[in-house]
Amino acid sequence: MAATIRTITPEDASGFFRTIRAVFLDPPGPTDRRAEFWLEHMRPDLSRAWGAFDGGTCVGSFRTLPFELTVPGGGTVPADGVTAVTVAPTHRRQGLLTGLMGEGLRAAADRGDAVSILIAAEWRIYGRFGYGPATEDAVWEVDTRRAAAAAPAGAVEAVEIAELRKLAPAVYDAARRQRPGGIDRPEPRWDYDYGLAHPEGEQPEWAGRAVLHRDPAGEVDGYLRWHADGTWEGMLPTGTLHVDELVTTSREAYADLWRFVLGVDLIATVRAGERPVDEPLPYLLADGRAARQVQRWDRLWLRVLDVPAALGARGYLSPGRVVLEVVDPAGYAAGRFALDAGPDGADCRPTTEAADLTLPAAALGAAYLGGTRLRTLAAAGLVDEHRPGAVERADRLLVGDQVPFCPLHF
Ligand SMILES: CC(C)(COP(=O)(O)OP(=O)(O)OC[C@H]1O[C@@H](n2cnc3c(N)ncnc32)[C@H](O)[C@@H]1OP(=O)(O)O)[C@@H](O)C(=O)NCCC(=O)NCCS
Repeated sequence: MAATIRTITPEDASGFFRTIRAVFLDPPGPTDRRAEFWLEHMRPDLSRAWGAFDGGTCVGSFRTLPFELTVPGGGTVPADGVTAVTVAPTHRRQGLLTGLMGEGLRAAADRGDAVSILIAAEWRIYGRFGYGPATEDAVWEVDTRRAAAAAPAGAVEAVEIAELRKLAPAVYDAARRQRPGGIDRPEPRWDYDYGLAHPEGEQPEWAGRAVLHRDPAGEVDGYLRWHADGTWEGMLPTGTLHVDELVTTSREAYADLWRFVLGVDLIATVRAGERPVDEPLPYLLADGRAARQVQRWDRLWLRVLDVPAALGARGYLSPGRVVLEVVDPAGYAAGRFALDAGPDGADCRPTTEAADLTLPAAALGAAYLGGTRLRTLAAAGLVDEHRPGAVERADRLLVGDQVPFCPLHF
């Protein structure tokens, strides 16, 4: 029997988590308490949670969250955040994700979301649905012995995690607005992410230590969460300090919190994952090569749903005009649009003029936050140029002044 796709009810929640748990290769175990916790603590909007059901059994999951996404220029757009995407191994490649995605995108477009975003488990899954890789992430490692970082110059203060939980949201919120790719953190996530609330019988999501940075006026302008593995070899300390979250709104806080972690005793390596690819970190060190990017990959994938709203909301560094033909079999972004934009504002509207370029929705999604260069996509054959110089012009128009970065895993 073909599976049915519908939004879930509270009674479906345990089965929904059973599928997610199995597909993400967690050990088998009861999911009732996880479901209870989710319903009570995380307060999900079940009109945005779909399941695929074979008879009474959940065999697929798909959920979306409302986000505000920071775009180049500092504005924000309403973004549909796709998460919890799974299809049971018994039901894979029968079109269930395609059906679930169809429901999710239709709902997002009906709500008026300008874009949809997600973090892809695998590169090959989402291009066909119009998503392109729009931001990157890096894992950094620092050899503390080579780094020779200076001591913090300002006020760095260790606090209890419960104290940080009260002070962090304002700093996070200011920081996520300072850089394209930023998204707000849903309120129930704070307690969960900080290990202060978790399903009964399960380990907290996180355990570690917290540090604040204050500006000279005493205002908190940065914070850090970290934990460490203390190891020894032949009576020499070889510990690793993990930077779990480092969020700052000032240059001083950024430098001081890094200097703090690099000065912790008994630590040989500092490792920071889910970080921007353009960390200023090497330039804080006596030996910049002590900080190495040990991994780098695509992070936020983006799909444009409303081309005029999305392109009209972002900022542009230099003036320009380009007519884009967007190919989108699902229809949401399809059409020909004239983008007339510059530092003073942008206007994007449907047009019947001849197109300068033709590109798939996924390429527009990749380039939208100004990080993935249109010229790179064109060099890979993903953009058709109809007028000489049009790729160059569109590339210069879309490039941003900051490398976009998404600070929250969802
Ligand atoms: C990714 C996943 C949800 C796909 O579900 P599905 O129901 O098998 O997908 P569909 O049947 O709708 O596939 C649609 C198309 O995408 C392709 N596709 C889907 N997942 C793919 C993958 N991981 N790699 C390559 N191609 C994939 C299918 O082959 C199919 O192509 P076709 O139409 O040319 O035959 C499922 O494989 C899964 O649960 N994977 C593990 C968990 C995961 O990675 N989730 C994503 C989290 S971001």
